Amino acid sequence: MTDNRRVVLSSDHAAIPLRQAIAAHVAELGWEVVDIGPVTPESTHYPAHGEAAARLVASGDCRLGIILCGTGQGIMMAANKVRGIRCGVCSDTFSARMIREHNDANMLSLGARVVGEGLALDIVDAFLNAGFEGGRHATRVDMIRALEA
Ligand code: RB5
Repeated sequence: MTDNRRVVLSSDHAAIPLRQAIAAHVAELGWEVVDIGPVTPESTHYPAHGEAAARLVASGDCRLGIILCGTGQGIMMAANKVRGIRCGVCSDTFSARMIREHNDANMLSLGARVVGEGLALDIVDAFLNAGFEGGRHATRVDMIRALEA
């Protein structure tokens, strides 16, 4: 884990306006936002965008990632295929906090066809403001890492 305050954002075509709203919000909170698009609404492929964001997190270039597609599910599945990524889809603030506190998640996925902007921003706040608790949870996260070996 790096100590930078850089967050990468990415989405497919289904989530561009919500991603841009989140980008503005996260920047207002003082994080450096790396928004890797896309910016035009043509149909595109969520695995490519999930992978691109995940690689920036896995390399340490960005500390955290926020990715979006219609449901948040497909892009999450792609991101989680990159070694070192722990990404969860959240539609509530409790889960967004817990995936950091217990699972040491380094990426959050949101469904733009599932949550409205107000809830999405609250979910992002919960994710960014939480921290990993370690302890017994570290043992379990290490077990997840071992699955990648
Ligand atoms: C695109 O129509 C849609 O399938 C995609 O955004 C996402 O929901 C997939 O998981």
